[in-house]
Amino acid sequence: MNTTISPDVALQKLINDHRRVQDLFTLFEEEDDAELRHEIGQKAINALTRHALLEETLLYPIAQAATGEDALVEDHREEHQLMKSIIAEAKLLRPGRDFDRKFRSLISIVKSHIEKEEGILFPLLEKSGVDLKKLGRKITQYRPEVSGSSMGVVLVGLVAAAGAYYWLSQRPNSHSRP
Ligand SMILES: [Fe+2]
Ligand SMILES: [Fe+2]
Repeated sequence: MNTTISPDVALQKLINDHRRVQDLFTLFEEEDDAELRHEIGQKAINALTRHALLEETLLYPIAQAATGEDALVEDHREEHQLMKSIIAEAKLLRPGRDFDRKFRSLISIVKSHIEKEEGILFPLLEKSGVDLKKLGRKITQYRPEVSGSSMGVVLVGLVAAAGAYYWLSQRPNSHSRP
């Protein structure tokens, strides 16, 4: 087991995911060819799907318990739902104007969601005193196989969620505000 993990690894891994998606958004906007824009869009969609699953399974339950900010975390979950419904629609579209329009609406939602996570949720989580090293280990070990069968994704998600809830249940005052 990696014992040298630093407390900020948990959030840095998530921030790295955000930067990768933002870089893909920039590539999308700079690309002139519709087929290539569609390919870049699919890469961003895959990265976003994995990232959203990781956050919903590990980060959000822990953030909710540690900060007591139920409404804020619920707001994040709702934005993920919106994101996922746009992704489901975008996946049905071939390269061209409709896909580009749909993907641009995804970009706008994801950009503001990332600002909220990094500007509000992550700082609250850092202040909450939650064990970020432990969360970092869970995040680094998390391996959702989004490209595999959907059942595999669900099973991986359920196992990780069970681990997160077990961990929360072992923490004293896990539901109290800092
Ligand atoms: Fe998120
Ligand atoms: Fe995120």
